[in-house]
Amino acid sequence: MTFIKEIKNRKGFKIDENNKLVFDGCCLEDLASIYGTPSYFFSETIIREQCQEYREAFKKWNIDYEILYAGKAFLVQAMAHIINEEGLSLDVSSGGEIYIALEGGFPAERIYFHGNNKSEEELNFAIKRGIGTIVIDNLYELELVEQIANILNKKVNILVRAIPGVDTHTHKKIRTGQIDSKFGIPIQDFLYIFPAILAKKHLIYQGVHCHIGSQLFDMQSYYLAIREMIDMIKAIEKNYEIKTSVLNLGGGLGVRYTEDDTALSINQYVHQLVGQIKIMCNENQLSIPKILVEPGRSIIADAGVTLYRVGPIKQAKGMTRYLIVDGGMTDNLRPSLYDARYEALIVNKFDEEALETVTVAGKCCESGDILIKDIKLPHAENGDLIVLFTTGAYHYSMSSNYNGFPRPPVVLVNKGKHGFMVKGETYQYMNQNHAFPEWLTPKKVT
Ligand SMILES: Cc1ncc(COP(=O)(O)O)c(C=O)c1O
Repeated sequence: MTFIKEIKNRKGFKIDENNKLVFDGCCLEDLASIYGTPSYFFSETIIREQCQEYREAFKKWNIDYEILYAGKAFLVQAMAHIINEEGLSLDVSSGGEIYIALEGGFPAERIYFHGNNKSEEELNFAIKRGIGTIVIDNLYELELVEQIANILNKKVNILVRAIPGVDTHTHKKIRTGQIDSKFGIPIQDFLYIFPAILAKKHLIYQGVHCHIGSQLFDMQSYYLAIREMIDMIKAIEKNYEIKTSVLNLGGGLGVRYTEDDTALSINQYVHQLVGQIKIMCNENQLSIPKILVEPGRSIIADAGVTLYRVGPIKQAKGMTRYLIVDGGMTDNLRPSLYDARYEALIVNKFDEEALETVTVAGKCCESGDILIKDIKLPHAENGDLIVLFTTGAYHYSMSSNYNGFPRPPVVLVNKGKHGFMVKGETYQYMNQNHAFPEWLTPKKVT
């Protein structure tokens, strides 16, 4: 039956002796009663296993490397703490993410700061707090970082982000390596701008960076990017006698959301990536630089699930049967943003046969607020509990208060234990920064 197949495909899921669906040792129905719905749940066991798989895949190679977790996928203080304990470094894309990481006890020197328009305020904050490396996105930023480092009298390690001009087979909104990308410096301009990089007294050139896209399933685009980057490293060496010590290839490894997704394992990905870098470095008589990767989704996506409660069920004669749940695009933007697909089960009916084709819709005032279009589920009723799989990456981090919905709680589970990583928002919390300009007199409604 489909549910058995689905549960086997999902990390952390088991059926317990009471025939209840369990995630990292916690009964989902119990979690829903304790934390309410909608709620995000993250398995600490899976997060740590994914980090370990990356570490072990790299350890097999006799090379210098660093694994950076891409915080944009999901970053809260407890997550920063786990990533630190697992020995990974961290890639952040804003002052806000730096703040979360530091408050979570993450060492500043293992943080890499990304972004295509880092503000003066963010750069000041990052440099003052001793952030390890800044990934320079453009020439304007190069000047700004030099100016700030000069004023603060600090030396700053930099990587420079290149656009390798590689198109990937992924949704256009998560492609970043194509020639007209808004991130980075076109690779063909690199040699011309290099003197400007070298002239900066406070910046220490470490190497180059690229990120070609996200949710990638095949290695061909990575191979093309590696070729471009190695050619560039070689040209830099030849023209300026400068050694590039670091090659950062970004993130992007895809995960399995539905059975149509044929994701590579972490081990396969690292094996092929490093193997190809070695081959290309050998061909070009280059020593192998330190290799950096920035996985986000492949570490955290599978570790997360979201629970929803079914409210009304609607179906006009012969039309779509809608199960309307108590969350939606405010906690999961990906279907409306990228047409992303998901799989789900009815937790309290997980072993019943999936006979009805339904659409799981959210409660936001947008017709596009559909979580899953046309999925087969058992006959659903109001009050049923739905679990959406693979909701760890780019869900909480992209969540919003649209329609005035508070963000759901984020709960960490670990072999039967559970506790908040972020409490659910309240109306008071959402209103705490609201203010009245002096010419408006607030009227309190009693
Ligand atoms: C620069 C950079 N590095 C790493 C990542 C993480 O990518 P993924 O979550 O696909 O591994 C992203 C995501 O967009 C990114 O922009």
